[in-house]
Amino acid sequence: MYPDFIEEAKIEGNKKAVWTFDVANQVEEIHAVLYKKALADMGDNEEVDYYVCGCCGNTVENEAPDICPVCECPKVEFFQVD
Ligand SMILES: [Fe+2]
Repeated sequence: MYPDFIEEAKIEGNKKAVWTFDVANQVEEIHAVLYKKALADMGDNEEVDYYVCGCCGNTVENEAPDICPVCECPKVEFFQVD
């Protein structure tokens, strides 16, 4: 879905749309990895803290990074999911 949107936005010269779809695509790929990991770990009773970037939705385990690797927002933009 997103790769087609990115290409269409590029053709239209809409740089903001290209950036938005690219970030969304990256975050969806990260979420897919986390979902698969959580499913594989189900029943292990290992507690994992998740932090979400308030700028782009990127989700990380255990500790928020100093800078979001997807959108480069600072650590302060991350919030912990309860
Ligand atoms: Fe981010």
